Amino acid sequence: MAEKKLDDVYGLDSPEATMEFYEGWAGSYDMELAENGYATPGRCARALRKRVQDPATPLLDFGCGTGLSGAAFAEAGFTTIDGMDPSEAMLDRAREKDVYRKLDVMDLDDPAPVAPESYPIIAAVGVIGAGAAPLSTFGMLMEGLQRDGLLVLSFNDHTLNEPGAKATLNEWLDLGAARLLFSEHGPHLPKEGLESTVYVIEKA
Ligand SMILES: C[S@@+](CC[C@H](N)C(=O)[O-])C[C@H]1O[C@@H](n2cnc3c(N)ncnc32)[C@H](O)[C@@H]1O
Repeated sequence: MAEKKLDDVYGLDSPEATMEFYEGWAGSYDMELAENGYATPGRCARALRKRVQDPATPLLDFGCGTGLSGAAFAEAGFTTIDGMDPSEAMLDRAREKDVYRKLDVMDLDDPAPVAPESYPIIAAVGVIGAGAAPLSTFGMLMEGLQRDGLLVLSFNDHTLNEPGAKATLNEWLDLGAARLLFSEHGPHLPKEGLESTVYVIEKA
């Protein structure tokens, strides 16, 4: 039986440790997440689809991992999905899903891996917060959105408990730089008893 990784992921404390961890998880990630009822990709995809007129609008799946998020967007009807992730091993798995227009490896030392105003839709499913990208990623992704663009993201319970997580969103919302279109707390990994909040945010 494959080693269970979910118990360890939320304790990762450096980009190097995080990368090494995902490189080693790529082979068993999909099975472990499926066994635990990973619900957040489908919730993000359905919430986004209701707010996008043309499903061919380009969507960047940031931190796409093995492509479970991209597969959920494809199932919801999106047809132009790009993926980006720092882990080559995760990207190899994503390539097998055959749902991405292109897949790029990102450099963790690059402060802006997504060029400013480059996409009308960006997704960060299970990516920001404990066990993956820092909270500052949110601002970088907002900068990467075109005007009136949509960001769909999730914060799991671990991230919601991090000091500053909600404030990171509110910095944009309170200043009127973005509008909150949707927010819902619900199942993330039900078998682990973990929930997440899914947000859809529009850049002003
Ligand atoms: C929990 S997985 C989520 C993958 C996919 N979105 C999904 O829903 O299955 C987190 C992903 O974030 C990536 N990641 C880790 N650190 C990151 C960073 N600083 N910036 C972007 N992605 C990062 C990992 O390589 C991993 O593929």
